[in-house]
Formats: sequence, structure tokens, C-alpha cells
Amino acid sequence: MGFATDCIHAGQAPDPSTGAVTTPIFQTSTYVQEGIGKHKGYEYARTQNPTRRALEMNLAALEGGVDAYCYASGMAATSAALTLVKAGQRVVVSDNVYGGTHRFFTKILTRYGVEFAFMDASDAAAFDGAAGEFAMLWIETPTNPLMKICDIAALSAVAKKRGALLVVDNTFLSPFFQRPLGLGADIVVHSTTKFLNGHSDSVGGVAVVKSEEHARWLQYVQNAVGAILSPFDSWLVLRGTKTLALRMPRHEENGAKVAAFLRGQAKVRKVFWPGFADHPGHDVHRRQASGFGSMISFELGSLEAAQRFLPRLRLCSLGESLGGVETLISHPATMTHAGYTQPERDALGITNGLVRISVGCEDAEDLLADLGQALQAL
Ligand SMILES: Cc1ncc(COP(=O)(O)O)c(C=O)c1O
Repeated sequence: MGFATDCIHAGQAPDPSTGAVTTPIFQTSTYVQEGIGKHKGYEYARTQNPTRRALEMNLAALEGGVDAYCYASGMAATSAALTLVKAGQRVVVSDNVYGGTHRFFTKILTRYGVEFAFMDASDAAAFDGAAGEFAMLWIETPTNPLMKICDIAALSAVAKKRGALLVVDNTFLSPFFQRPLGLGADIVVHSTTKFLNGHSDSVGGVAVVKSEEHARWLQYVQNAVGAILSPFDSWLVLRGTKTLALRMPRHEENGAKVAAFLRGQAKVRKVFWPGFADHPGHDVHRRQASGFGSMISFELGSLEAAQRFLPRLRLCSLGESLGGVETLISHPATMTHAGYTQPERDALGITNGLVRISVGCEDAEDLLADLGQALQAL
């Protein structure tokens, strides 16, 4: 089936007991059993829930995986994937990943004997030479918030050479634009909170896998740890993915307009967006993804400039998160990337004047007018 058809139908069949077209919210904690060991495949709702399962099958189809497991947040999905590494092993991470990922890896998992190294992975050959041995390579592409591009296929070869797993956080693009499993990744994770749900009304996460062995393990972890996505949130994300193929082109169209507009503004010193032909990762991105998305960062030069600009916005909402139909704008240094220390942010180029925008599905002219009037404050 085509991608849009899978968005609407994969994992979902009309409810057999009522014919309901939409997968019901199975809001139950447990299931009646006929006798010892005799049941309909559902024992307890942490372990199995039909609404969650429908979403998992839907997302597995969209990412081209064999299976998927949904968790209570993107971070819970990340933590489930990280149970594939053990004490004494080393994980290499593309630099400037989401601040919460950095925080979880450096502040929590290091307590359990896992070593982390954060490296620029945007040049796969140089990375191969510098990375040393590792058991897992964790990347975002585009990276958050500096929009560096990592070559998924080339990095998959680098990981395979070491017998290591490649995990891609595909939150920024969604499977509509980029399907890392087909490019050699072993696992894809998402914060479903973002484009997959698309309506800024649910927090969740998913890990999509390519092997049955990883599927068995992640299901085991989902049940054993218990950080499950609720039935209602599963239903919201299922509703969200139905329109993914409609929303993403609109996000991208608006993203291109906003990126071009920002680039033409005297007060904007630099715009980070992989759709620009002179972006260093442009060609790699074009090869591995079918669109550039609507995540853009731009440099205003100082914290004072960001402080003057952000409160002047009337349509774009200042807030953490991204991927909703409404345009969200954020200040990485104090919001999403506050988990990094100032020296770490300085080294990466996440300056106090950097602003990140997740361009929504509004009328582009309204967005440009809003950004334009707020820039006049500078
Ligand atoms: C790229 C990326 N990955 C993971 C996460 C974590 O997701 P969640 O907030 O759903 O835990 C985020 C959150 O902003 C993110 O931007």
C-alpha cells in the first residue's frame, strides 16, 4: 500500500464487535479470563492493550519496521532502546542531540557503567577514523537544533564494521520524509509528541525495529519497566498519523517560505535549514530524505535580541516542543538544551541568540507577517 493509505489503515481494521471504523480506546486495566491460562490474548493492560497495539502496527508500517513499541514519552522510548547496551559498553552520539537525550545519557546512564562520547557525525569518513570502538551509534539527522546532517547509510556501514547498532531519532522529519531503517539503521525512535501526533495534545514515544530479536526485547522491556503509552494517548496518535501525509507537505511548504524569509532579514545573522542549497549537508539530505521539513534555527546575535524578539510574536507561540499544526518557537539555550552546560553549548554553537522554529500549517503570509513585525523590535 502507499504511504498515505498506510497512515490511514495500517494496524487498524473495523472493530469486530461493533464495526466501529475508528479503533476504540480500550480503557481497561485488565481482561476477564475464562479459566487458568484461557484468555483472548490479553491478560493485563501494561502487557497488552489493543489501542496501543493498533498504533504500534501503524507506526511499524510507516517506518518499514517489523514491529514497534510505544512508550509514555519520547524519552521513555529512548531509555527502552538504551537497554540494548550493557555496563562497560560505549555509545557514540552525534553532537547537538535533543538536550533531554544528552541529559539522560550523561547524568543517568553513566551511573550504570555505560560510557558516552558525543562527536560530530556529519562527516562519516572522519567520524569512522575518530570514533573508536562502540556498541551503539545514536544519531539525529537533522540534529537538534543546529540542523547538521548525518549520512545514515554511511554511518550504518561504520556501525556494522564494529558490530554495533545504529539508532536514529527520526522525530524531526517523520517517516513521511525519511525512513532510516531502509537506509541501514537498526532502530528508529520518535517522540510521537511531535509530528506523528501533530496536534500538541499528547506526550509519547515509539521505538521501531527491524529484527524480531529486538522486537522481543523491546516488548519485554515495555512490560517489565512499565513506561507504556496510555490507551487515550495511543488513540490520539493514531488519529494524528491518519493525516500525517496531508500535514507534512504543508509543514514543508511553509518551512521553505519561512526559511527564505528569515534569510532575507538584515537582523537575522544566520539561518540553519537543510533545504538551502549551500547547507553543508544539503546533498546528503536530498539523497536520504524526500523533504527538508519545517524545523529551522536562526541566529539573532545575543540573548538580549532573543529576549526582545520572542515576546513580540503574536501568532507563533513561544514554547518547548515542535511538530504541531501550530507554529512553535523556542529558545534552545534556556529550554530544550538547558541540560547542556554553558561551555558545552558554546562548543557546539548553541548560542544564547539562537532561536528554533517549528513551522506549522497556518497561512504562510500570516507567519511571515508575524515574524517580520517581531524582528522590527531588534
Ligand atoms: C528530537 C527529540 N527526540 C526526543 C525528544 C523527547 O521526547 P519527549 O518529550 O516526548 O519525551 C524530543 C523532545 O523534544 C526531541 O525533540
